[in-house]
Amino acid sequence: MSHPRIAFIGAGNMATSLIGGLLAQGVPATHIRASDPGAEQRAKVAHEYGIELFESNAEAVINADVVVLATKPQVLKGVCQTLAPSLQSSQLIVSIAAGITCASLSAWLGDVALVRCMPNTPALLRQGVSGLYANARVNSMQRQLAEQLLSAVGLALWLEEEQQIDAVTAVSGSGPAYFFLLIEAMTAAGEKLGLPRDTAAQLTLHTALGAARMATESDVEAAELRRRVTSPNGTTEAAIKTFQAGGFEALVQQALDAAARRSAELAEQLGQ
Ligand SMILES: NC(=O)c1ccc[n+]([C@@H]2O[C@H](COP(=O)([O-])OP(=O)(O)OC[C@H]3O[C@@H](n4cnc5c(N)ncnc54)[C@H](OP(=O)(O)O)[C@@H]3O)[C@@H](O)[C@H]2O)c1
Repeated sequence: MSHPRIAFIGAGNMATSLIGGLLAQGVPATHIRASDPGAEQRAKVAHEYGIELFESNAEAVINADVVVLATKPQVLKGVCQTLAPSLQSSQLIVSIAAGITCASLSAWLGDVALVRCMPNTPALLRQGVSGLYANARVNSMQRQLAEQLLSAVGLALWLEEEQQIDAVTAVSGSGPAYFFLLIEAMTAAGEKLGLPRDTAAQLTLHTALGAARMATESDVEAAELRRRVTSPNGTTEAAIKTFQAGGFEALVQQALDAAARRSAELAEQLGQ
């Protein structure tokens, strides 16, 4: 497959991570364009990535195979309505805007081939994970293009139903913050047990990193890994029993239910 031509609408944090990832995959800089209203931002991105930047969104999408909508969700309606007359039916539209549904995008853009994605913040380090949903207009070549795009910043997983984006938001979209919360709590607890704050923080962070690598690099499920490090009557068992007595699993379920509900509510509000 020859390299696709990709246009980014909005050249902020997420777009520049994707651009950096695409260049690292070998997509030539001449195949990537972006538009952004900020003159300084345009100059910075052009300098850093060697791609062409435009003030006009309509100019950026000319001859693109893929148009990536990478503005904040709050401005996307206006962006889409202005852009719609400049799009061609052969172009794939990829939206990374949180909470904007395919129905809203189609209402603003017309009947287009559309992939809606939910990446997460570690995409900024190319360590992200994204859920992708394609509407019925997307062909198999375009699915590959969307997957190539999101794979540039981490793992890309297809979803069967658009509604599952709310669950993706609850698990991985908001997920980094849950781990940050656990890191905060473990660091504070380590300090109360008598460690210097910095030592408690380093111990916690490297334990998180090591555990995440063990779990991702092993074929064994997390529950089994946990059992393997939990000796009967040992220290780990004492801690795990305390977590479970406090209703840890039920609390996690409630937290993710709340995030998924909020994701659906925000989609409703932002789509108007
Ligand atoms: N960052 C994340 O971790 C993350 C995770 C999941 C999903 N997302 C989604 O990714 C999208 C982008 O997020 P971000 O963090 O990259 O935001 P960002 O850094 O603010 O980037 C958005 C860029 O779009 C520009 N822009 C504003 N109005 C525009 C217009 N009319 N036409 C073209 N460009 C315009 C902004 O310029 P100004 O700054 O001058 O307004 C800014 O440079 C959001 O929809 C967000 O929901 C982000």
